[in-house]
Amino acid sequence: IEVAPFDLAVFGATGDLAHRKLLPALYHRDLDGQLPAEARVIACSRRDMGDKAYRDWAEASVREHVTDIDEAVLKRFIERISYVAVDAASDAGWTDLAKRLGERSDVVRAFYLAVSPDFFGSICERIGSHGLVTDQTRVVIEKPIGKDGTSAKKLNETIGGVFREDQIFRIDHYLGKETVQNLMALRFANALFEPLWNAAHIDHVQITVAESLGVEGRAGYYDTAGALRDMVQNHILQLLCLVAMEPPESMDADSVRDEKLKVLKALKPMDAEAVERLTVRGQYRAGASAGGAVAGYLEELEKPSSDTETFVAIKAEIANWRWAGVPFYLRTGKRLASRVSEIVVQFRPIPHSIFDTEAGSISANRLVIRLQPNEGVRMQVMIKDPGPGGMRLRQVPLDMSFAEAFKVRNPDAYERLIMDVIRGNQTLFMRRDEVDAAWAWIDPILESWSSLKEPPKGYTSGTWGPSASIALVERDGRTWFEDLI
Ligand code: BG6
Repeated sequence: IEVAPFDLAVFGATGDLAHRKLLPALYHRDLDGQLPAEARVIACSRRDMGDKAYRDWAEASVREHVTDIDEAVLKRFIERISYVAVDAASDAGWTDLAKRLGERSDVVRAFYLAVSPDFFGSICERIGSHGLVTDQTRVVIEKPIGKDGTSAKKLNETIGGVFREDQIFRIDHYLGKETVQNLMALRFANALFEPLWNAAHIDHVQITVAESLGVEGRAGYYDTAGALRDMVQNHILQLLCLVAMEPPESMDADSVRDEKLKVLKALKPMDAEAVERLTVRGQYRAGASAGGAVAGYLEELEKPSSDTETFVAIKAEIANWRWAGVPFYLRTGKRLASRVSEIVVQFRPIPHSIFDTEAGSISANRLVIRLQPNEGVRMQVMIKDPGPGGMRLRQVPLDMSFAEAFKVRNPDAYERLIMDVIRGNQTLFMRRDEVDAAWAWIDPILESWSSLKEPPKGYTSGTWGPSASIALVERDGRTWFEDLI
């Protein structure tokens, strides 16, 4: 699809996100011929550096994160970049930025705020007060959007005072992941699943986003956030929405977001008693990861104590006709046994078996959608064991590994999302009311945790979290699935 000429102004251009994700993603889009000749990247940060110094830094970022560099493309890409020293918290540098952007007021203009959320409001206000908002302007903000419903509302109001809602792109990078988009293809481009996609046929759903890394130098932010705010309020609830939503009328941004919003509103609210019964919080202790010894969370923080959770498991329910009584078991954590993100849809058992006991037991069907690593989809089905030995049943996977099937590079989520911003397509971005609805469900959990005053349960690094998480599922006669693909 043709991409219009654009100026992309990246705030926080010398930061970690630009280094690891944005610059490599833009290089890849250039490589694939998706950046028009007139595309420019305007790097903004407080540091006093010129075009040359920044370009060197950007080139090093791309080289560090991309294998098989095409030197001609890299040269072309780097030449698109210029640098402006701008202060997020004062007016310094803003006239320079205005001048640079003013050279082309008729192209798509995108501001990407890859900065600490503390600066979101002040940058937006300055973009407004310096008259930088054109009709073709968009702003991209990263999470976290607030630390609770009230602060999110305040931030959204500040941003909304400068930009129209259709100009605001709230990134949840999980929505840009290939397999997450594939979830929509799977559900709505096949006739097979939709008739079974409800409480009559589905026993429960599991959503796991497990990481093997710890907090990795982000302790300052993480200790004020915790796993519920960092992963559940956004990524995991977004995945839950895509699994549970009604078929939208079209892929149009508001059709999809209207349906996701209904799911968020239908999440059964949790009172203090439910929070105690249906949630588990954990914090990693020293242990082993990838074969080496690793420190515990508190040692990494060099703090004697912290009540911040690095693991959370929740049994959630969606109170509507489609999902009544179907548990959605959610869990995420750092320093777990492996890095694996997957959605498991467990179907109900067959109502009656025609086979005698010799045939063996019959496992219910299970659909596993693997987000990472080894993206793919697997359906567990029962078949007859091949051979003349009589009717013996066996469970086998119907397997589709995307890497094997397509033999193409799996693009990073940011590649898709940045181009969607330029094209003005908001389907994979969170609307303001979605953010509010997600916080409305999360806030009471946070409040109950703080009034219960129970510290998070310790778990050894390299395990699957506190045993209470296993108990949460096992007391319902179920079990977490691990490493299925
Ligand atoms: C981020 C969180 O949003 O997602 C991090 O802030 C987390 O704590 C990361 O590590 C996980 O993303 P991915 O794409 O590596 O699964």
